[in-house]
Amino acid sequence: MERTLVLIKPDGVKRQLIGEIISFYERKNLKISYLKMIKADREVAENHYIEHAGRDYFDKLIEYITEDKIVAMIIEGENAVKIVRKINGVTDPLEADMGSIRGKYGLSKQRNLVHASDSIESAEREISIWFSELKL
Ligand code: PPS
Repeated sequence: MERTLVLIKPDGVKRQLIGEIISFYERKNLKISYLKMIKADREVAENHYIEHAGRDYFDKLIEYITEDKIVAMIIEGENAVKIVRKINGVTDPLEADMGSIRGKYGLSKQRNLVHASDSIESAEREISIWFSELKL
């Protein structure tokens, strides 16, 4: 069994798409094992996106992810990392498959509703950032 970290970003929460987004994962038989709604502080957001530090969009990305509440989840299932990335679709909603969350509802490369870990290693790192209290 594999686990991955998913964030429903501020646009997903504000647009009242939480239930819709979670349904995509549940209908694929993935299990939501932990879930919380939080407002991320800058330090956590910068740590989460550390690989993108220095990119021209980095500051905007941090402002966006900290602008309002987000939902953080740990999702479990066989091949959870790959399956969740497919369900989310690629970064740019214009390029994303129309059956994916971003293809269907995403508005831009920034306001693209969801984040998911890109590997098992990233998932473990990101879970420890967002769910540090669980000591998983
Ligand atoms: S890249 O260029 O391939 O590394 O980008 P990618 O891995 O697809 O995207 C990494 C995250 O950065 C966000 N992103 C952007 N935000 C604002 N403006 C621009 N131009 C932009 N490009 C990428 C994108 O939403 C990704 O967020 P996460 O949460 O990791 O999906």
